[in-house]
Amino acid sequence: MNVDDGQETAVLRRTPPRFITDRPHLLEDAEAALRLGKHLLFRGPTGSGKTRLAETLAERLGLEMESVNCSVDLDLEALLGYRTLGLSEGRTVVEYVEGPVVRAMRRGRMLYVDELNVARPEVLPILHGALDHRRQLTNPLTAEVVTAHPNFCVIAAINEGYAGTSPLNEALLNRFVVFDVSYVQGDALAQLIREATALSDSSQIERFVRFSADLVRASQVGELPAEVASIRALLDACDLSSHMPSLRAIRYAVANKASDPREQDLVMELASGYFSNL
Ligand SMILES: Nc1ncnc2c1ncn2[C@@H]1O[C@H](COP(=O)(O)OP(=O)(O)O)[C@@H](O)[C@H]1O
Ligand SMILES: [Mg+2]
Repeated sequence: MNVDDGQETAVLRRTPPRFITDRPHLLEDAEAALRLGKHLLFRGPTGSGKTRLAETLAERLGLEMESVNCSVDLDLEALLGYRTLGLSEGRTVVEYVEGPVVRAMRRGRMLYVDELNVARPEVLPILHGALDHRRQLTNPLTAEVVTAHPNFCVIAAINEGYAGTSPLNEALLNRFVVFDVSYVQGDALAQLIREATALSDSSQIERFVRFSADLVRASQVGELPAEVASIRALLDACDLSSHMPSLRAIRYAVANKASDPREQDLVMELASGYFSNL
């Protein structure tokens, strides 16, 4: 088999699932807020569909998306760009390469800022002017004032209460309209599993929906870490279980996300209420 053959590798690629939620109005209200020129903050646990929701909104508005993933190392250059040496007519010149914030502002794109509350708080005030009625920032790298295109909008995501996150400062929080995004459950989750995974058997899907409710409950009371309740992990388990016993699929895709063996055991115990090793 030729691994470079496009047809062979194409089967590995999947288009991302349609965003499906059990929250009435979430999608329409978020879209309305963007159309009214607001910036959005999505608050919710890992794997709850925040990025997928932002991508869906960008599609609906016909906007391209620029992304920034915050970390403690995030600095001004990662947001605004950097200077580098280039050649022009045989001479060395200093060139400026735009970063995602400047690109989104100038070209009227959506800026998605993931894990905003992981960034060091002193880096973020540079965004204040871009996010309020001024829609401008002064780029310290070029000393230029950058004015946002009318289509420029920002969606930021935070995952509250995680190690390494800090509460968002009020000045920043003030500039956003806040939407809670929680794990999709119930009939909407069954629909997502049907659309996004290889599972099609209704009773099997129903068992995964109930198992997910147990995981979410256990993570809410702190018995399990949030990664274990992630919908991403559940969808992976559903996919795998079309090719192996569900308990094995759950071990790989869900239980092993926990580092503590007691947490792994709890996941498998919950799963054994719905699935057998056949
Ligand atoms: N409500 C949902 N609708 C569609 N897909 C979802 C939903 N929740 C989670 N997913 C899927 O789970 C995975 C993780 O979602 P993502 O948007 O990256 O989560 P987050 O940004 O909250 O960590 C993606 O593959 C995504 O398609
Ligand atoms: Mg994400």
